[in-house]
Amino acid sequence: MKTINGFSKLSKSEKINWLAENYSASPDELEAVLSSWQHEDDAVQRIVDGFTENAISNYVLPYSIAPNFVINGKPYAVPMVIEESSVVAAASSAAKFWQERGGFHAEVLGTVKLGQVHFRWPGKTEKLRQIFPEIKTCLLSCADDLTENMRKRGGGILDIELVDFETVEPYYFQLRVSFETCDSMGANFVNSVLERFADSLELFFTDYPGLTDTERDVEVIMSILSNYTPDCVVRAWVECPVSSFSELAKSQGMDAEALARRFAMAVRIAQIDPYRATTHNKGIYNGIDAVVLATGNDFRAIEACGHTYACRDGQYRSLSSCELRDDFFHFELKIPLAMGAVGGLTALHPLARKSLEILGNPSAEELMCITAAVGLAQNFAAVRSLITTGIQQGHMKMHLTNILNHLQATEEEAAAAQFHFQRETVSFSAVRSFIETSRAGFSTEKSV
Ligand code: MEV
Repeated sequence: MKTINGFSKLSKSEKINWLAENYSASPDELEAVLSSWQHEDDAVQRIVDGFTENAISNYVLPYSIAPNFVINGKPYAVPMVIEESSVVAAASSAAKFWQERGGFHAEVLGTVKLGQVHFRWPGKTEKLRQIFPEIKTCLLSCADDLTENMRKRGGGILDIELVDFETVEPYYFQLRVSFETCDSMGANFVNSVLERFADSLELFFTDYPGLTDTERDVEVIMSILSNYTPDCVVRAWVECPVSSFSELAKSQGMDAEALARRFAMAVRIAQIDPYRATTHNKGIYNGIDAVVLATGNDFRAIEACGHTYACRDGQYRSLSSCELRDDFFHFELKIPLAMGAVGGLTALHPLARKSLEILGNPSAEELMCITAAVGLAQNFAAVRSLITTGIQQGHMKMHLTNILNHLQATEEEAAAAQFHFQRETVSFSAVRSFIETSRAGFSTEKSV
């Protein structure tokens, strides 16, 4: 029986049994694997199971540290959760490079979060505009109880704007609401306020004197935060005299000016061409997502927002920019990052809490600065490789461990392979052939 009602009501072991019986060619093995990834501490496992419906096991990703980040003069060891082999190595190497050149600089340009109440109102726009100040006063006071705590922390509702979409969709209007959510990402706070606004908007039109029956017929379609937060933005940058690239450039057989020029050109290409911009920005999000995940933030929200921001002028472009002026190199990332340092998963996930501790329990603004700096470091490392050695050298060196694990190499075989491939090009077939040859040699030696 391959479909089921009430799956969520089964116990975890019943769920695993059902899955193994119906969707596995080797049920015993599947059960064993799923069970083996349970956390040994039941209390921890209960917390993790509580995150989603129908949790039956844990999916493990590496939790890594990129040391040597200096951001606004302060040293950090940054926790990163990511599976891609070369990402942490690249971030760490860029952190080290810039540590010796003044470190990363970052500043938060804004922290405004947004939400929307989408509604249909079959009256005249003029009239809605006329009564809107009264609507606004009514809405602001109706959510007092919900906003009280946030106001005490210095946040709350900043403004409510009426947006008119009548020319594209008859009778469609929107309340665009801006919020300050302090150290929290604020999704629950924003959504609760918006849903209260939706109820109050309907009541307002029921009670407001002198409206026709048609004008009372407001219909709220939906109320939800917007993940597009173009005013919740952080800027991170690095800079140095071009001559500071001399050593790196020399190791690549070029001079510092050529290296800086090639770097700036590569970033410019990502400004001009959306195909390159997508990959360029993906490299930035290699770093951003890893910190966002490690600190229990919402990487889907952050990516969705960043990609919209990247095409705010109508074309998808690089989120970073590079300037060479008077022999000075300036490389910068401007990126929206609606992150929280309290609440949500940041408080619940045991490792997310630890990540924040490792980062010195930053405010949301400091966390935005750290995350942007890692995104910029990642982008710097990727572009530096692309314009010099190419990306595969470093990538495949890191990937060697994965290949060796796949081939079930022993410790001695792995050590021999790591040594051998310091000077050889890594590919799956080259590593397999190396392992097969050494195994054949070993068995011949044994049989002699
Ligand atoms: C790979 O995950 C990321 C890069 O492709 C980024 C880039 O091309 O800038 C190396």
